[in-house]
Amino acid sequence: MLVSAKDMLQKAKAGKYAVGQFNINNLEWTKAVLAAAQENNSPVILGVSEGAGKYMTGYKTIVGMVNGMLEEMNITVPVALHLDHGSFEGCMKCIEAGFSSVMFDGSHYPIEENIAKTTELVKICNEKGLSLEAEVGSIGGEEDGVVGAGECADPEECKMIADLGVTMLAAGIGNIHGKYPDNWAGLSFETLDAIQKLTGDMPLVLHGGTGIPEEMIQQAISLGVAKINVNTECQVVFAEATRKYIEAGKDLQGKGFDPRKLLAPGTDAIKATVVEKMKLFGSVGKA
Ligand code: G3H
Ligand code: ZN
Repeated sequence: MLVSAKDMLQKAKAGKYAVGQFNINNLEWTKAVLAAAQENNSPVILGVSEGAGKYMTGYKTIVGMVNGMLEEMNITVPVALHLDHGSFEGCMKCIEAGFSSVMFDGSHYPIEENIAKTTELVKICNEKGLSLEAEVGSIGGEEDGVVGAGECADPEECKMIADLGVTMLAAGIGNIHGKYPDNWAGLSFETLDAIQKLTGDMPLVLHGGTGIPEEMIQQAISLGVAKINVNTECQVVFAEATRKYIEAGKDLQGKGFDPRKLLAPGTDAIKATVVEKMKLFGSVGKA
């Protein structure tokens, strides 16, 4: 059964580790992430962007697929199905479709409007038992059409949003979606420290998890990050493994063109990446 992300993130914050959110795109992605979580006894969050939601034909299809897999793969670890960078309307659709968690990304609105819309969603999510992520500041780069300037969050604004009763808070601290440029200035731990001091027990979320050096991940966790989002890295390893299989001509041999064979190396590569991240984030054995 899908669960809200609330318990797993509060435990992670208290235990000084982070739960990974891994974005999914199809059946192979979902199967790989769930298998990695179950085999490593780790809680996990399946992230779905609005673009990936459309690609998979809609939120109800995703809920059906994930619930089926939880049962037929005998998944017993806590799993949350979470809308990533959602609009207000997207959140409403996911709540109705059966997601267990949503992110309302109101970071591009003036703070008053972000507060007003987040307040409304806090009420609805509380009534329905879903977890809610809000965002302040912005994540640089682009993910599925969501573009951010990358400005660091104002800690006072973070406190205002946290005080509304959201479950988790994403704050821009110099993090970027996609690959980090060579001249990247790194995460602003000064900003993160100020946010954590003002928001207390609130689990903080680090977006743009692809390519952040390990020591920065550890430092972020020590300063209150309890959820880390990873998307691009799984896409890259999937593409690399699939390319290798095709370039080796394996798709032309025997029944190598069978999609179940063609997609297997990429699926295994996603699973290996997810396991690596779970170890780095410290969530292994925490289910
Ligand atoms: O919302 C999802 C993420 O923040 C993932 O970022 O693609 O850089 O790993 P990433
Ligand atoms: Zn993100």
